[in-house]
Amino acid sequence: MSHIAVLETEVVRAFEGVAIATFFDGTVGAGGHASAILTAHPEIERYLACDRDPRAHLLAKKRLEPWGEKVEFIRGSYSSLEHFLDERKIARIDGFLIDIGVSSMQLDEAERGFSFRFEGPLDMRMDPSGGVTAESIVNSYPEKELEQIFREYGEEWQARKAAQAIVSARKKRPLRTTAELAKLLESVLHRGKIHPATKVFQALRIVVNDELGELERGLDAAIRRLSNGGRLAVISFHSLEDRIVKHRLKDQEYRMPKRSREAVGCLKILTKKPIEASIEESRKNPRSRSAKLRIAEKVGRES
Ligand SMILES: C[S@@+](CC[C@H](N)C(=O)[O-])C[C@H]1O[C@@H](n2cnc3c(N)ncnc32)[C@H](O)[C@@H]1O
Repeated sequence: MSHIAVLETEVVRAFEGVAIATFFDGTVGAGGHASAILTAHPEIERYLACDRDPRAHLLAKKRLEPWGEKVEFIRGSYSSLEHFLDERKIARIDGFLIDIGVSSMQLDEAERGFSFRFEGPLDMRMDPSGGVTAESIVNSYPEKELEQIFREYGEEWQARKAAQAIVSARKKRPLRTTAELAKLLESVLHRGKIHPATKVFQALRIVVNDELGELERGLDAAIRRLSNGGRLAVISFHSLEDRIVKHRLKDQEYRMPKRSREAVGCLKILTKKPIEASIEESRKNPRSRSAKLRIAEKVGRES
């Protein structure tokens, strides 16, 4: 399935009225949001299109061809934003977007190991060139640690059961594939509305890709490097991520503390509540159902 950009109209609206010279797209994926933003902002001089997955760039390059050299592809993690800017001697960005989570392409490529619906190696790395795989976590982490990961990052109430089952299965032989793990979880966990492997797979993916750490570091970097009047937009897909975004923005909100002459913070939060997909979009693109968009503008002080 090709990837449909979520909340595309809302993302374009997030940057309305901002004169953008340099834009940093931290998760360019298939380039859906990128093409919409580039169309809406012909004034953009440099569009930095970052993704840690080399395969995403193949698709995005084709889609973003009409914009020629304005678009610079960066292979890496968006949390390294400042490094990428320094390398290019860019001081400030006027727009920052991240649309985090896995893409439909990643889910559909069985050999990437993201989906319990397809048989593939237990990999789950967005950047296949390095780092720990889901297989090594599942086969080597102590039971207590697995339980904690499933509880914390999967919000799985049956975390202990899942961890126990994994540890007892791997004593016989290591778990190598998505199908082996999915079958094991199906056999021990209660069935609800979602597949019993959903939350454990989510938790493993978050740990393999350090998704929450990426988000925290990426947001802090973006806030530091946004120009005055510049905006950032973040689309997240589960409550753990949305909580981080909400608190990170709130911590940096521009305000005048009581009994103080000096304002603190440098952001105006433009979404008191996150923007969610319309009924129509949710119907057309099920992936959009859990998406939450938060937007903020840099004001007053430059840190
Ligand atoms: C949901 S897709 C983005 C789709 C894109 N906005 C579009 O319109 O096509 C998420 C993408 O973010 C990438 N990604 C996830 N975490 C990342 C990170 N920390 N740094 C860079 N890219 C990341 C994934 O590899 C994936 O291609």
